[in-house]
Amino acid sequence: MIVCVCRRISDREIARHARAGMGFDEIQFELGVATQCGQCEGCARDVVAQCSATCPTANIKLADSSLEGSSWNPLSPSLQASPAA
Ligand code: FES
Repeated sequence: MIVCVCRRISDREIARHARAGMGFDEIQFELGVATQCGQCEGCARDVVAQCSATCPTANIKLADSSLEGSSWNPLSPSLQASPAA
């Protein structure tokens, strides 16, 4: 379904960007949705909100809290794979 008639942007396109982790402002900047007459802003925000609620983005955390705050070093001994047993 076309959400933004002025820019010809569908709900699927907005949803695809929202599932990629983009917020409304980023999607608006990227696609130009709700940048002309503004009639579509509420519907576009609803699509983003629905996708954000049902399609959470990955939240990757370090298992070892002692590594937090340090920069990633691929040569760090603590990150190297141990030999197979
Ligand atoms: S319908 Fe989206 S800006 Fe006009």
